[in-house]
Amino acid sequence: AFACSVNVALDLTVTIYSNGLLYISHQIKTLVNSLIKGVYPASPSSWLFVAIGILATMYMQSDPSMGLITKIQQHLPLHMSLSAQGQTMVSALVFSTLLWLSLILALRFCLKLLLSYHQWMFEKHGRMSNTTKVWVPLVRLLSSRKPLLYSYQSSLPHLPVPAIQDTVSRYLESVRPLLTDPEFKRMSDLANEFESNLGNRLQRYLKLKALWATNYVSDWWEEYVYLRSRGPIMVNSNYYGMDFLYVTPTSVQAARAGNTITALLLYRRKVNREELKPVRLRVPGTVIPLCAAQCERMFNTTRTPGVETDVLQHWLDSEFVAVYHRGRYFRLWVYRAGRLLSPREIEDQIQRILDDASPPLPGEEKLGALTAGDRIPWAQMRKQYFSSGVNKRSLDIIERAAFFVTLDDEEQGMRGDDPEGNLDRYAKSLLHGKCYDRWFDKSFSVVIYKNGKSGLNAEHSWADAPTVAHLWEYTLATDAFQLGYTEDGHCKGDVEPSLPQPQRLVWNIPAEVQAQVSSSLAVAQALADDVDCHVFPFREFGKGRIKKCRVSPDAFIQISLQLAYYRDRGGFCLTYEASMTRLFREGRTETVRSCSNESCAFITALESGETEEECRRLFQLASERHQNLYRMAMTGAGIDRHLFCLYVVSKYLGVESPFLKEVLSEPWRLSTSQTPVQQMNLFDLKNHPDFISLGGGFGPVADDGYGVSYIIVGEDMVNFHVSSKYSCSQTVSNVSVSWIDDLLYLLSCSPTPCNTFVNKMFYCVNPAYRPKKPGCLSWLCQS
Ligand SMILES: *[C@@H]1O[C@H](CO)[C@@H](O)[C@H](O)[C@H]1NC(C)=O
Ligand SMILES: *[C@@H]1O[C@H](CO)[C@@H](O)[C@H](O)[C@H]1NC(C)=O
Ligand SMILES: *[C@@H]1O[C@H](CO)[C@@H](O)[C@H](O)[C@H]1NC(C)=O
Ligand SMILES: *[C@@H]1O[C@H](CO)[C@@H](O)[C@H](O)[C@H]1NC(C)=O
Repeated sequence: AFACSVNVALDLTVTIYSNGLLYISHQIKTLVNSLIKGVYPASPSSWLFVAIGILATMYMQSDPSMGLITKIQQHLPLHMSLSAQGQTMVSALVFSTLLWLSLILALRFCLKLLLSYHQWMFEKHGRMSNTTKVWVPLVRLLSSRKPLLYSYQSSLPHLPVPAIQDTVSRYLESVRPLLTDPEFKRMSDLANEFESNLGNRLQRYLKLKALWATNYVSDWWEEYVYLRSRGPIMVNSNYYGMDFLYVTPTSVQAARAGNTITALLLYRRKVNREELKPVRLRVPGTVIPLCAAQCERMFNTTRTPGVETDVLQHWLDSEFVAVYHRGRYFRLWVYRAGRLLSPREIEDQIQRILDDASPPLPGEEKLGALTAGDRIPWAQMRKQYFSSGVNKRSLDIIERAAFFVTLDDEEQGMRGDDPEGNLDRYAKSLLHGKCYDRWFDKSFSVVIYKNGKSGLNAEHSWADAPTVAHLWEYTLATDAFQLGYTEDGHCKGDVEPSLPQPQRLVWNIPAEVQAQVSSSLAVAQALADDVDCHVFPFREFGKGRIKKCRVSPDAFIQISLQLAYYRDRGGFCLTYEASMTRLFREGRTETVRSCSNESCAFITALESGETEEECRRLFQLASERHQNLYRMAMTGAGIDRHLFCLYVVSKYLGVESPFLKEVLSEPWRLSTSQTPVQQMNLFDLKNHPDFISLGGGFGPVADDGYGVSYIIVGEDMVNFHVSSKYSCSQTVSNVSVSWIDDLLYLLSCSPTPCNTFVNKMFYCVNPAYRPKKPGCLSWLCQS
């Protein structure tokens, strides 16, 4: 026993000592990083050049500072201890440093000015303006040094507030095709009345806010759209990401969890060390950075419920993950003496959890339903029953965990006799599961299924889908290609035999909480049961063919979605497409109102059997218009965020605006979003063509509308995730049989209806099938 305790003591000393060393080296690293980042776009070593330059000129008997060095010398408290020469030397160094710092500030200011220029985005390929031709090399010059994740942050421009006339006229333009003449007349009157009276007053306050706020939209957007919303976040706000479509790297559940958790933690390490490359947009000749602020609250983060508003909480350290399996919660330490566990060690630990047969404590199994139901009851329960004792300790562990992991006891994916239906069930499982087996408040929950399939459910307030998609791409690629598996499907890596058991969390759940869990679950279950999800990989063609016709793939898909909606419902609707404003500091999203005058004109012409030339002409106009709308949204000339902020100001001032009220309550019956593929370089589609990601999706936004998420994968494929509500008799997500037909129809060899009916089932059962139809799209390509 004595030897044992000595060993433990020694072990502890070693741990503390190595933690201490780690701590110090971490502090040094942080310091160095903030120095590198702080002097960006210059490098720390450039100080030397400035100093040597100044000293050299002084040596040549000329004073480069025009008397400043002498001034500094007079004010330095040095004359006691240094010779005259030493004093001059020190003053010269002080002067060099000041000069160097001002140069950095000037450089940064220039970079910011350069990054405020967005005209390049509107220029046709190969027809650059003279300004852009000068702009490109300047940007390249100033931003060429290898940046850290947050290096560019202080050089990013601020999101400008558009003029109120511009926003109002853009708004009216966007609703024109959706309204009848009298309706439009009424709306124009409302808008003009707003513009000339209340609007100006609200705008003044907004401009004032824009002066001091980093971003005039983002804090209000986060608070009013996400955190203050009092309904369930499950389905309504959280979204999901899926695994590879065709392959599952291993069918061993614990092993998949081992690699996935490791990959996520490696990503976290890159974020913390700022080694992750900031995401940048490609411009012909250079790249420009996007805001990286959304990475800050990716890990160690949870949303906690409040009676009026929820808050996002973030912790600076978190060396464990929280795991849920068959009704029990566990804490799994992922570090040992400062060392990240090997994938195999994590696998073994997960296996211990899977092998643990102990039953859930009373009330434990469905506790997670509190995060799925309405927010207010959850806030009350949390305050009353989870603010002390064992319940607080256990809840703390979940909330402070790096992220949440569910070991699901179901099998999911495209498999079995009904691959199509199973894909839909997979989507539903990631979106809401059993309503209690994910922790919807965590920044994200990873789900590992019994057959090794994986996925994630992400909370929406802390970041938007592109940031999560970036993380998930890295995770999938690292899991499959970097970490890999042994031949029998287990993780690699050494195992230290004496790892402590994962810790079961202890709860003492009183009857009141159990009653609330039941009612939250009932609310959530009703919501979940109403969601109709349909996922389909579209493989007839992809980006490659569309681009050959000189059409933007995104515009193409947006127009076809509108066409599909038109044929399904016999009309047009307000269409939301998410775009990002991360060219600006702390930018998030902006709405592209992608149903435009031009897209409606094209669809009407196509449906009424206009000639091929006419359809082609209108299609080109519609797609150009779409791209233009998208670019305006990205460069701060959108409509919806500005109107939203004006609305918030009007609420603060306690004034009613009939115009804003009406605009903000219009339903988005078609709510769409493209998931960007950002790190194609991580995937080797040449040698592993089957490692194709399915992307992700979200729930329906309007009760009688569709949510459509899509991802353009490689050159030949687009994956769609469609959602709607069963309770609405007008929407059926799997009418996408006809949606696909519409897409094909749009692309078929002529604009006259072509009734090729493609059996989706066939694709799903036989992944190798790639139809070849060389004639497709030809009518669009002729010019
Ligand atoms: C751009 O520069 C070229 C010569 O470099 C000149 O011929 C042309 O007129 C300029 N274009 C504009 C729009 O100023
Ligand atoms: C999260 O916790 C880890 C582990 O303690 C820590 O190293 C990291 O700095 C934290 N991450 C952030 C973004 O604060
Ligand atoms: C919208 O289209 C109609 C007809 O296609 C046209 O008369 C009108 O000028 C267009 N409006 C705008 C703002 O482009
Ligand atoms: C669509 O889904 C419904 C159930 O919602 C099902 O009854 C129907 O068979 C499905 N249709 C197709 C074509 O898969």
